[in-house]
Amino acid sequence: MNERVTVTAWAPGRVNLIGDHTDYMGGLVLPMAVQLGTTVSAVRGGNKLELTSGQLPGTVSIQLPVTHPDVVEPSWGRYAAGVASVLGAEVGLRGHVESDLPIGSGLSSSASFEVAVALALGTPGDPVEVARLCQTAEQRATGVPCGIMDQLASAAGVSGHALLIDCATLSIEPVPIPDDAAIWVVHSGQERGLVDSAYAQRRSECEKAAEAVGPLPLASHSDIESLEDPIVRARARHVRSECARVSDMVAALRSGDLGSAGHLMVESHRSLRDDFEVSTPQLDGLVDDLTSRPGVHGARLTGAGFGGCVVALADPEVELPGWRVSAAEGAHLIDSA
Ligand code: GLA
Repeated sequence: MNERVTVTAWAPGRVNLIGDHTDYMGGLVLPMAVQLGTTVSAVRGGNKLELTSGQLPGTVSIQLPVTHPDVVEPSWGRYAAGVASVLGAEVGLRGHVESDLPIGSGLSSSASFEVAVALALGTPGDPVEVARLCQTAEQRATGVPCGIMDQLASAAGVSGHALLIDCATLSIEPVPIPDDAAIWVVHSGQERGLVDSAYAQRRSECEKAAEAVGPLPLASHSDIESLEDPIVRARARHVRSECARVSDMVAALRSGDLGSAGHLMVESHRSLRDDFEVSTPQLDGLVDDLTSRPGVHGARLTGAGFGGCVVALADPEVELPGWRVSAAEGAHLIDSA
């Protein structure tokens, strides 16, 4: 019999301000952890993972150790099973999951769930290690070759700050969100579709480019324009230009220049639409609508694309039809006894 411990772990979702489809190529990203997240309240002990959810149907009940997290039913349990499988966990959890994140919208509800489960299972708190383990868990659970941004933003969030992450070194620099900036997340009304296969395809196109010209964030403009395949060239152009926009965005936020920050967001959206081809007419229409409103500095799709949410930067008095998010601290145990 192993000792039983009561734990409550909370992990935030994230919104990415700028820097999409750059993490898995060793580029720059600027996400922030948000005040919405996932809470796992459980007793740690026994040799099963047994979880119910306040938002999703079914009870997860898995014997440990887990070998095939990708076939667990109900399917929301795959993320928890993925974490248990990466940890090789033999001591389980019996408890309940509550989330106030909109599920499957691009706010990383799955990363937040994984990170909360990792903490509840007793993983020590180094954010980079927790994030690496949860990135592998997500890959095992879904088969999607995702990068580390979502899990690292959730694990390492700093209240009031976005996180400049260099995904080549995993160095993290907190960047203050100006007091007069409001950040909104607005749903396009379109559930994310086809995202898994298209994501893997984009990643492999980027990898082809990097085989020819080296790491894309460091490649020269002429190297990228010399790539023969027009699709591979466009994907590489996005990664390089997006990393430059992340640096420019950090400078704009640091100097309180919200106009420039908003402009960079719109440029990022165009690049994701035209060069990376992960936008949709609904996302484009929403970005146009939001940016035409007074007091909105800029907007862009956020996350993987193909539906889901747009992030907008606005003056504080502006009201938009979505969630106003604030930059929250990263995942932590609320209780352990
Ligand atoms: C998903 C992935 C991240 C990242 C974004 C796009 O959220 O999980 O690793 O690649 O898409 O920026």
